[in-house]
Amino acid sequence: MPAKKGIILSGMRPTGKLHLGNLFGALENWVKLQEEYDCFYCVVDWHALTTDYENPRKVEENVREMVMDWLSCGIDPQKAVVFKQSDVKEHAELHLLLSMLTPLSWLERVPTYKEQLNQLKGKNISTYGFLGYPLLQAADILVYKANAVPVGEDQAPHIELTREIARRFNYLYKQQVFPEPETLLNIYKVVPGLDNRKMSKSYNNIIEISIPLEEIPSRVRMMITDPGRIRKNDPGNPDICSVFAYHRIFNQDNQAEVEESCKKGSIGCVQCKTSVSTYMQNFLEPIYYKRRELEKNSQLVMEILAEGGKKARAVAQKTMEEVRQAMGLS
Ligand code: TRP
Ligand code: SF4
Repeated sequence: MPAKKGIILSGMRPTGKLHLGNLFGALENWVKLQEEYDCFYCVVDWHALTTDYENPRKVEENVREMVMDWLSCGIDPQKAVVFKQSDVKEHAELHLLLSMLTPLSWLERVPTYKEQLNQLKGKNISTYGFLGYPLLQAADILVYKANAVPVGEDQAPHIELTREIARRFNYLYKQQVFPEPETLLNIYKVVPGLDNRKMSKSYNNIIEISIPLEEIPSRVRMMITDPGRIRKNDPGNPDICSVFAYHRIFNQDNQAEVEESCKKGSIGCVQCKTSVSTYMQNFLEPIYYKRRELEKNSQLVMEILAEGGKKARAVAQKTMEEVRQAMGLS
């Protein structure tokens, strides 16, 4: 095997079934990276509790659903370590130890903190755990001495904070225990939701990765097209139409022709939607059948997570020995 480029860690909160935005915003990147790096992909169930601690029942089920999506989209437990955060208690130990040297102001100024406090008004998240969310994330990353972290742009401040903490630790204890991880911004394909806003569970506008193939056409029919097109032969603007965004992703055959025809007004939206539905069905078919297989074998996901947890733990334990040593605890 050729030498790998370094260690990668990334994580996702277990939100249950994933949607196409997750696939083209993150998962697709993860699948590629497993060939080039030693990858650790972590289901961050403790992070889910920072906002859902009042309702923890669903977390377990959400973990299973999400991991089935990961695997059916091509995350390969032979190539990457797939595991659950709560199976590796070393994350919690490192979080605690790092909390000793993390200035409060570093956490308070993380932009996601204030934004989320405002957005999630219905939930009581003026908690200690929620403020510490990015520090727990730093522990996730540093405990594997990751060199790079693939994330979306919104997460970049968290990786920056992780670098600052690594630097502070190495400086305080005069040892290069932690590398400063690089941010690998995910290459993102735009998949708007059914209503042309960003695809998001909270907007109720998603298409699940695991959608039954026969339901794709009816879902696509709900999509908002160019609102300026009233009659079938009005010229349209594909650039503002979500259906065309889907052609860009799924139709490798004749997207240029569809674009032309839309602009000329020679194709109707109904036909345009039928055509993209077929391309989507072809694309999602292998994923769908792989997931059906996984659903039949409910033990398998648990076994994969158990196995991944073992591998992750071995690495994390080694790091923690160094950390304790550096902090005078061994
Ligand atoms: N905060 C990340 C998100 O909401 C999830 C996450 C937790 C994560 N730990 C991580 C991402 C470590 C990358 C690395 O998307
Ligand atoms: Fe959108 Fe297709 Fe209708 Fe053009 S023809 S507005 S691309 S659905």
